[in-house]
Amino acid sequence: MFITFEGIEGSGKSTQINLLYEYLKGRGYDVIKTREPGGTKTGEFLRDFLLNNEGDINPKTELLLIMAMRAQHVEEVIIPALKDKKIVLCDRFTDATIAYQGYGRGINLSIIELINNFAAEGITPDLTILIDFDVKDGLDRRMNDTGYMDRFEKEGILFHKRVRDAYLKLSRENKERFLVVDGSEPVEKIHEIIKDRVVSLIGSGSF
Ligand code: TMP
Repeated sequence: MFITFEGIEGSGKSTQINLLYEYLKGRGYDVIKTREPGGTKTGEFLRDFLLNNEGDINPKTELLLIMAMRAQHVEEVIIPALKDKKIVLCDRFTDATIAYQGYGRGINLSIIELINNFAAEGITPDLTILIDFDVKDGLDRRMNDTGYMDRFEKEGILFHKRVRDAYLKLSRENKERFLVVDGSEPVEKIHEIIKDRVVSLIGSGSF
């Protein structure tokens, strides 16, 4: 079973992925936690470059770097784990590329789809948890937590608003796959909502 977490910067998705991971592990499930960009040795090296490089990285290069990381991640981590019937929790995946590189940077969606089909080998999530949150509050929260802003976080508020709107659009277009939760609710309440959905998905026995 492949479950992805999405949301704008500072939405709280990393907290929620950790809580779900601990919950599932505690219940004896074979579960792994991974992330994009990154998730492999090669990917983490490229992630650092992508997020922290001070030089100019144009949108096409950015897209291709992200897809290179995805190709490595899918082949090295995700496909083997799914073959072993593990539950894979992934912090961001293809929806992030559509939201950030597509709606954020303005790259043609059909080009993203084409390259993504090659990189992701047709892997799509069984469930995507979107933690929706106010853009400004998210950026403030991120700044307060880390005291640092990476290449994406430094983008203007309008960029992040486009990303948030894109995620909401994707959730409306893929209602079956998406669970949208309000990121301004207490952490424990959000965890309960996510847990209930995941438990019912596992119980459905389709995986
Ligand atoms: P993180 O905030 O989840 O650690 O992700 C790092 C950044 O990577 C985040 O600002 C969004 C960006 N990103 C993209 O722009 N496109 C993608 O496809 C992915 C997976 C992440």
